[in-house]
Amino acid sequence: MASPWNKVPPALLSFLLLFLWLPNPSASQQEPCQTCRDLASNFLKGLERTQRENFGGGNTAWEEEKLAKYANSETRLLEVLEGVCATSDFACNQLLEQSEDHVEQWWFHEQQQHPDFFQWLCMDAQKLCCSPGTYGPDCHTCPGGAQKPCSGYGQCDGDGTRGGTGLCMCQTGYGGPFCSECGDGYYEAARNDSHLVCAECYRACGRCSGPEDSSCLRCKRGWMLHDRRCIDIDECGTEMAHCRANQFCVNTEGSYECRDCAKACIGCMGAGPSRCKKCNKGYQRDGVKCLDVDECAGEVEEPVCTGANEACENTDGGYRCICAEGYVRKDGICEEDKPPDAPEKGFFDDITDDEVVVLQQMFFGAIICALATLAAKGDMVFTAIFIGAVAAMAGYWLSERSDRVLDGFIKGR
Ligand SMILES: *[C@@H]1O[C@H](CO)[C@@H](O)[C@H](O)[C@H]1NC(C)=O
Repeated sequence: MASPWNKVPPALLSFLLLFLWLPNPSASQQEPCQTCRDLASNFLKGLERTQRENFGGGNTAWEEEKLAKYANSETRLLEVLEGVCATSDFACNQLLEQSEDHVEQWWFHEQQQHPDFFQWLCMDAQKLCCSPGTYGPDCHTCPGGAQKPCSGYGQCDGDGTRGGTGLCMCQTGYGGPFCSECGDGYYEAARNDSHLVCAECYRACGRCSGPEDSSCLRCKRGWMLHDRRCIDIDECGTEMAHCRANQFCVNTEGSYECRDCAKACIGCMGAGPSRCKKCNKGYQRDGVKCLDVDECAGEVEEPVCTGANEACENTDGGYRCICAEGYVRKDGICEEDKPPDAPEKGFFDDITDDEVVVLQQMFFGAIICALATLAAKGDMVFTAIFIGAVAAMAGYWLSERSDRVLDGFIKGR
C-alpha cells in the first residue's frame, strides 16, 4: 500500500520529522494505550465521515456499484488515515507509522472476522491496551473481577491499559481492597446482591451501625466512646497535649490548639495577663494580674533617661528615652528643633573680606585713573584733586590694614 508519507518528498519529510521531534508537552506524557485509543477512535470517525462519499456522486445503479467499490478501497483508507493524527501529535504519528502494515492487514483482510478495530489494533496487534477490567503488562484481572472492577465502587489503577498497579481507589464512603465494604465513618444503609449503599455516620463516629448519635461502635481520633456515643477528649488536661513553653492549651472538638501567652507572662494557664504563671520582665503582679511597670514614674527624683534634653516615655513592658518637647534627635543627640532660618541672601554675602579689599582697590584705582585722565587734559582743579587722592591713597597703603592686604598679594592671592 502507498503510505500517506510516500507522497511527501524526502527532504520535506525529514524536516517534518525534525519538527515533530520537538517536545510536545500535551502528547509526550500520554499513556501509550490512550494514544492508541485516540488513534482508533479517530480512525472510526474517519470511516463514518467517508461512509457516504464515493468517486463521484449520485445514486444510479452504476454509481451504487462504484460506492460499493469505494467502501473497501485504498482511496478511502488513505482518506481516513489522513485525518487520524494532528500534525503536531508526535506520539500519534509515530504509532500510525508503526501500525501501517497492521492497519492495511485489517482493512483488506481482517475486517470481517475482527470488526472491533480498537481491540484488533491496540489490544491484539500492538499490545498497548488490555481489555476492560484488566491491567498491567500481562493484563491481570482487576480486584473484584473484570466484569465489575472494584465492585463498581472504585477505579482499578491501570484498568484497560498495559500499566498500573491494579489497586482499587474507592469512591467516598467505600473501602476495603475491593471497595466492597463501607469506608471509615460510613455504615451499610442497604445491601443486596448487586448493590451496596453506604451512608455517613453521626459526625465523630469512625464506625457505626446507623445514623443516630447513639449508634457509634468506634470513634474518630480525638473522641472517646462512652455509652455508644462519641464524646470529645479534653487533651489539655492530659499527656496528649504538647504545647511550647510560652503557650497555653485550648481544647477543641476532636482536637486541641496551642495559643501564645500574653506578653505580660512567662508561662500561662490561659489567655490574658491574669492567667500568668510568672510575670514577664517589665511587669509586676498586682493582685491576680501582671501589670506593666511604669519605669518613668520616678523620673523627677531620679532620672531614667540621662541624655541631655531627653524625656522618659513608658511603653508596655518597658520604656523609651525620647527627646524632650522642642528637641529632635540628630546623630543620637537631642538638639533644639529650630526651623532653619533662611534670610534673603544679598549679592555680596558670599564675598570674602579679601575680595572686598580687592574691590575697594579696583574702585579707588578707577577714580584715580579718571582723575589722571582729567588732569592730563590740563584742568587745574582735577589735577589738584588727583594729587590729593594719590596722597590719600599713599596714606592708606601705609596703614596696618593695607600692609596685610599687600602681604596677601605678595603671597599670590
Ligand atoms: C438492589 O438495590 C438497588 C438499590 O438499592 C436496586 O436498584 C436494585 O434493584 C436491587 N437489586 C436487587 C437484585 O435486589
